[in-house]
Amino acid sequence: MENKKVRFAVVGVHSIAKSHIEGIRRLPCAELTAICDIHEEFARPCAEKYGLSTYYLDYNDMLRAGGFDCVVICTPDQVHRRQAVAALEAGYHVLCEKPLAMTMEDCRAIVDAAKKSDKKFMVGQVCRKTPAFILAKQLVDEGRIGELFFVESEYAHNYDIIEDIDGWRRDPVNLRYPLVGGGCHAVDLLRWIAGDPTEVFAYANHKALPHWPVDDCTVAIFKYPNDVIGKVMTSIGCHRPYTMRTVLYGTKGTIITDNKSPTLTLYQDYTYAKDGAHRKTTYLPTELPVDINSHNMTAEIEDMCRIILEDAPVECDVLAGANTVAVCHAAIRSAAEGKPCVPEYFN
Ligand SMILES: NC(=O)c1ccc[n+]([C@@H]2O[C@H](COP(=O)([O-])OP(=O)(O)OC[C@H]3O[C@@H](n4cnc5c(N)ncnc54)[C@H](O)[C@@H]3O)[C@@H](O)[C@H]2O)c1
Repeated sequence: MENKKVRFAVVGVHSIAKSHIEGIRRLPCAELTAICDIHEEFARPCAEKYGLSTYYLDYNDMLRAGGFDCVVICTPDQVHRRQAVAALEAGYHVLCEKPLAMTMEDCRAIVDAAKKSDKKFMVGQVCRKTPAFILAKQLVDEGRIGELFFVESEYAHNYDIIEDIDGWRRDPVNLRYPLVGGGCHAVDLLRWIAGDPTEVFAYANHKALPHWPVDDCTVAIFKYPNDVIGKVMTSIGCHRPYTMRTVLYGTKGTIITDNKSPTLTLYQDYTYAKDGAHRKTTYLPTELPVDINSHNMTAEIEDMCRIILEDAPVECDVLAGANTVAVCHAAIRSAAEGKPCVPEYFN
């Protein structure tokens, strides 16, 4: 990778894109050469801040002008399909923010376009780059907690207090289901650790944010391979700071972690003490330090550079992103129909 650079164009530069742009600026293998946003009040200051002589208000104009190798899509979920397919057809590599797309049909269109293209396609399921979750997966893969038997994660947020440009998260027509939009983080994390669920049963309600157009809380129970079972709770109306508390139970230990704490807790060992006729067992937590970095887009950009420059395979590829959406939709279907559902996986 020495001396070679990947030139990036970023589209949708208001919130999360700042983490990608900072990553691009920090890495010697990356260079920011174009930005686009339909709102000039976001595009212009961004171009000025990063020393770009021009900016685009129209995505297709940017694709036509070129001067970059990879497009980073940071626009609302509703826009991903159109922009991802257009970028692939124009011959660019793509790093697309999660969720890959909002519907199964949109995922199919992107998967098909990616298959026709010889370009790299990565989906930014950033939990795979979060230090605490990387360590958790490593401990599981090393067998440190024995065989998994139950895994749980969550996406607990409050969307009423976050800025929402043009109201895309609460669009009453192109519905953004919280389980797809945000819960996909927890669903993807557990898929990454425990494999593809074979069946799901879910319940949902609409109490915390009754003024939103969709159910705001869902609990989904999954069957995973190797007789592992699991649960994902998604809420966008929680009165608490955003968190993704995750617990992995194995036959020889337990991991408790999240995306906001400086340590991961590992339970394996316990002590016995005699208390008269009673035996007292105390579990000893091992606190393993981890960096707090729940938006580690720098690692995604670095990975994308390596993948492009070395023609390496993509780990979180278009099928991984599409299949996470497929699992989310199976849970949404289950909650609506009141019966277990099987995810319709892409291949
Ligand atoms: N990985 C994460 O943890 C994480 C966190 C937040 C958001 N996201 C995802 O990132 C994406 C963006 O979210 P956000 O919070 O930054 O949204 P945002 O509303 O803050 O920013 C989106 C930007 O896209 C621009 N935009 C909208 N339509 C456009 C178009 N057709 N062409 C060009 N620009 C357009 C808007 O003007 C806005 O500046 C979403 O897909 C979201 O789900 C991921």
